[in-house]
Amino acid sequence: MRGGGRPGLLRQPSRRVNGNSTTGPWNRTRGRPGALRVIDRMMSQRILGKSPLGVYLRLSEWIWQRLPLPTRTPLSAYGHLMHSVVRHGDRRQWFGTYFFRNRPQLQLISDLAELRRRTPAVRIAVLGCSVGAEVYSILWSIHSRHPDLRVVIDAVDISDEVLEVARQGVYSRAVSDLVLEPIFERMTEGEIREMFDAQGDRLSVKPWLREGIVWRRGDARDPQIVNVLGRHDLVVANDFLCHMEPVEADRSLRNIARLVDPGGYLVVSGIDIDVRTHVAKALWWKPVPQLMKDIHDGDRSLRLGWPWKYWGLEPFDRSRPDWRIRYASAFQIKETR
Ligand SMILES: C[S@@+](CC[C@H](N)C(=O)[O-])C[C@H]1O[C@@H](n2cnc3c(N)ncnc32)[C@H](O)[C@@H]1O
Repeated sequence: MRGGGRPGLLRQPSRRVNGNSTTGPWNRTRGRPGALRVIDRMMSQRILGKSPLGVYLRLSEWIWQRLPLPTRTPLSAYGHLMHSVVRHGDRRQWFGTYFFRNRPQLQLISDLAELRRRTPAVRIAVLGCSVGAEVYSILWSIHSRHPDLRVVIDAVDISDEVLEVARQGVYSRAVSDLVLEPIFERMTEGEIREMFDAQGDRLSVKPWLREGIVWRRGDARDPQIVNVLGRHDLVVANDFLCHMEPVEADRSLRNIARLVDPGGYLVVSGIDIDVRTHVAKALWWKPVPQLMKDIHDGDRSLRLGWPWKYWGLEPFDRSRPDWRIRYASAFQIKETR
């Protein structure tokens, strides 16, 4: 995921993690549905070395980003059409992350953790944790809202490179080559002072905030992951399933849900919204209504990326009959299959 949130200033992608999915009917080598093949053909056509569809999309994006926000609302049907085109383009994994990326979501995670209060500690798994910004933000938020709540966190990522940074908990104020995002831009200076010890340009996470975290290498797609990690009161899986092809994301999401203790909660955003809705309905997950719209709009990169980036998040639309499940990013999971 990327982008500082300003229209037209979406940043270049941060480093690619691994290849695209090679599974499922969306795979080009296995044959794609007819409409997608047409889009593929249009994408691959070249005039003077350029793809006419690519040029059209870039020009439309340029105009769209310059429209005043109220003007975009009546154009949302066009936005959905454009998004249906771009979401069939290539997907890639990225390391991009932020501290305090989505504040309403952090608030909800803290309150769900409190609901699952237990002795000796509430168990949380954070999948796709990247360099750790999300994990430290979660711990910070829980501590701020429920100071006496004890939690232990399994923080999992597929990349050893980011896990090493996360484990050290030392970050440069400058944008790093690894993440390529201004990871502190959503924090206030006061919060930075409380959360880090500063040595020149380097910020080191305070020792108390490092307690109770186990950093682990793991693959959210691995069916054995539940045997390794066990069940958790709360599982967080943000901003990496969107980079998988829909079929693989669907399968991974079902796998991730097995990590949730019956009655526990799954928080999942930064995912193809059709995939999430489909799985949530199929497995009878109970959407958590609290802060739903605030969380939906809480990560400006995602919202401003729509409709031009495949990972962009459509506007919250209460006129949809399924909006209560479509726009939920937290679910209670009664039983796992
Ligand atoms: C865009 S970052 C998101 C970081 C953080 N979750 C956030 O929301 O800010 C995606 C992270 O997911 C990791 N990742 C990608 N595929 C994964 C998989 N199958 N299992 C575990 N981690 C994965 C990547 O290595 C990367 O660090």
